[in-house]
Amino acid sequence: MFADEITSIYGPVFNITLNKWLDLSNKSYLVNNGNIPKWEQALDLLKTSKNGTLSFQSPYLAIDCVGLESEILQPALEKLMPWRKGPFKINELKLESEWQGDLKWQRIIKHIQPLKGRKVLDVGSGNGYFTLRMALAGAELALGIEPFLLFNYQFRAINSLIESPPNAHMLSLRLEEMEKAAVFNTVFSMGVLYHQRDHMAHLKQLKQMLTPEGELILETLIVDGPKGHTLVPKDRYARMRNVHCLPSVETLVSWLKEAKFKKIKVVDICKTSIMEQRRTKWIGENSASLEDFLDPSNDQLTIEGLPAPKRVIVIAQK
Ligand SMILES: C[S@@+](CC[C@H](N)C(=O)[O-])C[C@H]1O[C@@H](n2cnc3c(N)ncnc32)[C@H](O)[C@@H]1O
Repeated sequence: MFADEITSIYGPVFNITLNKWLDLSNKSYLVNNGNIPKWEQALDLLKTSKNGTLSFQSPYLAIDCVGLESEILQPALEKLMPWRKGPFKINELKLESEWQGDLKWQRIIKHIQPLKGRKVLDVGSGNGYFTLRMALAGAELALGIEPFLLFNYQFRAINSLIESPPNAHMLSLRLEEMEKAAVFNTVFSMGVLYHQRDHMAHLKQLKQMLTPEGELILETLIVDGPKGHTLVPKDRYARMRNVHCLPSVETLVSWLKEAKFKKIKVVDICKTSIMEQRRTKWIGENSASLEDFLDPSNDQLTIEGLPAPKRVIVIAQK
């Protein structure tokens, strides 16, 4: 399908594996999802435009497309709502996503090995905002994997507007569906660990995807507490379903040690702010965001009475 061109670039061993991933990804589009016609329509609308150049215009990933009518652009992008990750600026249209992704990227980029010339895997890439940032930072290949089809369509929409897209690609896959292959120099898992039923299996597979000495960038929710402490929400956490286990920093480091990562460094801890995760019209006029998920009388707690979201960035080596 659309990512075919990447198989011709990266050498035979990588290509055999990549082809298997591509097949799986292509199959995942064959599901019976009633939204697909609407999302395809959005792509068709955008096809009529001339492509532009991609750049970073703080805090936006910006694309300037000569001759792209806002009467076409805005309704096309609205068909792909909600936009969680971004922000993007396409001509004069500011697509203010729920998350102001540049804040996370700034916390990360100063601590990691330069991405120039590296093969990079972005696990749980959402719509590929960060995958594109990785490619713009010089990655030889930035491969996002994301099982949620809408986010794959968002990536395709954005990518379709770029004249010479950087080496960023996205496949509709879950990490555990990927054949284990030690082919990536850098692996990112950001905002994904707490969604896993089996966090150790996730960490071990992240390691298996890395080349020797390759670098892991793990960004995840944590709670305060000593080594061994975890929070297992009974129901939702900050209104999110599928949050399985939030470790303390010390617990997380012990998990990484158990998975046999080396040179484990905690480089950043920060409480998520309502500037970073905010209500915008691009998630729907009446849709809720972080400020609605916190206790109105105490912003240290979620609406469920649990500790408010705090995130860590850990870097480790295979
Ligand atoms: C909270 S979002 C984070 C997106 C982005 N990485 C970021 O940091 O903003 C988590 C994403 O991971 C995806 N995801 C969850 N489990 C996954 C898995 N096992 N393999 C790949 N992606 C997964 C979800 O569909 C979701 O889009």
